Amino acid sequence: MPTLPQPRGPLSTALFLHWSGGADLADHPALADLDRLDPLADDDLQLALWCCYAPHYRGFDGLPADAEWDPETIAFRNQLEARFEAALRDEHRPEALPADPVVALRVVATWAGPPLARTIEEEGERFHLEEFAIHRSAYQLKEADGHTFGLPRLTGAGRAAMVEIQADEYGGGRPGEAHSELFAAAMDELGLRSDFGHYVDRLPGVTLATDNLVSLFGLNRRLRGALVGHLALFEVCSVTPMSRYLAAARRVGGLPALERFYAVHVEADVHHARLALDGMVAPMAAAEPELAADIVFGAVALAHVEKRFARHVLQAWDRNESSLLPVPGPVDLRVPVPREPLATAAPVG
Ligand SMILES: [Fe+2]
Ligand SMILES: [Fe+2]
Repeated sequence: MPTLPQPRGPLSTALFLHWSGGADLADHPALADLDRLDPLADDDLQLALWCCYAPHYRGFDGLPADAEWDPETIAFRNQLEARFEAALRDEHRPEALPADPVVALRVVATWAGPPLARTIEEEGERFHLEEFAIHRSAYQLKEADGHTFGLPRLTGAGRAAMVEIQADEYGGGRPGEAHSELFAAAMDELGLRSDFGHYVDRLPGVTLATDNLVSLFGLNRRLRGALVGHLALFEVCSVTPMSRYLAAARRVGGLPALERFYAVHVEADVHHARLALDGMVAPMAAAEPELAADIVFGAVALAHVEKRFARHVLQAWDRNESSLLPVPGPVDLRVPVPREPLATAAPVG
């Protein structure tokens, strides 16, 4: 079980104080400031949200398991989620896309983002592979789990395809072959810590948002269409970047476990991409047409959070800086954490 990260501001401080001593969380003054924050990138908001989701997955060391259904935590989470979702919907332009979700997802898959994979392929050194692995660890060490929450919420032929995709993600039930386990082996090989949640303190809001997006969609039944769209675009857009990361791992050399992780995806996701669109999205949208709009929304939201993440990483590397947050010092929860001046959110292209 991961240990609780360090708080980053009033929201995470309020949550951790509530968990450590039962301090009141409902209508906490920190929530009054939500409108000042960029809900897509704010470090404190995204960390607090990530921590609200954590009890639904592995929990935290020392946090009772029933924190998962603590009413104050859920109410607090709902407020953060509402801002996050509203901001994601604000940047979605459904009128600019075809209504048919299969056609729309093919369009979204062609959108160009910042060239993170190409940069790593062409110029990436071992340091870049390590830092990229750390960013991805919040998601990848529990890869597939967020999407699995969707299975009991869906039915029919589309669900059968989703089960096939998920079964592959879990290595077909073979111990050690789940993609999350292959990723853990790759992190070990890179000399990194592979225990879940170890690096959360280093992950900026734009990185945590990529993982929180899956949890938002997976843990809210009303957003199951968005979850399907997220999974589908994930699969459709996987092969090219995974091939590039594989090429980088081969060039750097001495990283067979990392090569294997990427190679498995290159191989599996050719099939998954077809399965996701024709086997999952098409029959689901036909059976439940009311899901179609959110299937597209989920895909578009994924494209936007990934663009923000990639832009952040590339901009830091362009400055010859780490794209990770610095190692935090110990924080006394009893002392209020000052908030940094609000940064202007970068526009999404
Ligand atoms: Fe995978
Ligand atoms: Fe896949």
